Amino acid sequence: MRAVSFTLNGKPTRLAVDETRPLLWVLRDDLGLTGTKFGCGEAVCGACTVIVNNEAVRSCATRIGDVEGKQVLTIEGLAKGDRLHPIQEAFVEHLAYQCGYCTPGMIMGAYAMLLKHPKATRADIVKGLDSHLCRCGAHVRILEAVETAATAMKGSAR
Ligand code: FES
Ligand code: FES
Repeated sequence: MRAVSFTLNGKPTRLAVDETRPLLWVLRDDLGLTGTKFGCGEAVCGACTVIVNNEAVRSCATRIGDVEGKQVLTIEGLAKGDRLHPIQEAFVEHLAYQCGYCTPGMIMGAYAMLLKHPKATRADIVKGLDSHLCRCGAHVRILEAVETAATAMKGSAR
């Protein structure tokens, strides 16, 4: 056990924890942020994706000790008050989900991808989200949503 300090969705956060525990379970079980989903647990599906220092990471495969001093952003931190982030708005507009289980990870993956490639083309989006699985097969609507979001954000990823 040791104290781990980091910034979570803009708020300084400090907790005493086994530093080897996966970030995913600390977020869900210790901090009650259940928007981040458990899919495969093996860094394959993308359901658990969060942002750490502006990079998409698989929280199932990230130790809580490794986020010491870093900025962590989860799906719960994306909206500004009651205003959804443009990526979230675009997912709603395009109904880019069925069961919704992959959706938080898809949105966080898209967020990180648009940070790097604000003018992403369809091909960039396909490549950027290739490692995110959707068992419901909503891929086409997901791609359309991310394209719409990229246009709405006009090159500004935040
Ligand atoms: S649960 Fe982490 S990648 Fe699947
Ligand atoms: S919407 Fe069900 S897994 Fe993607």
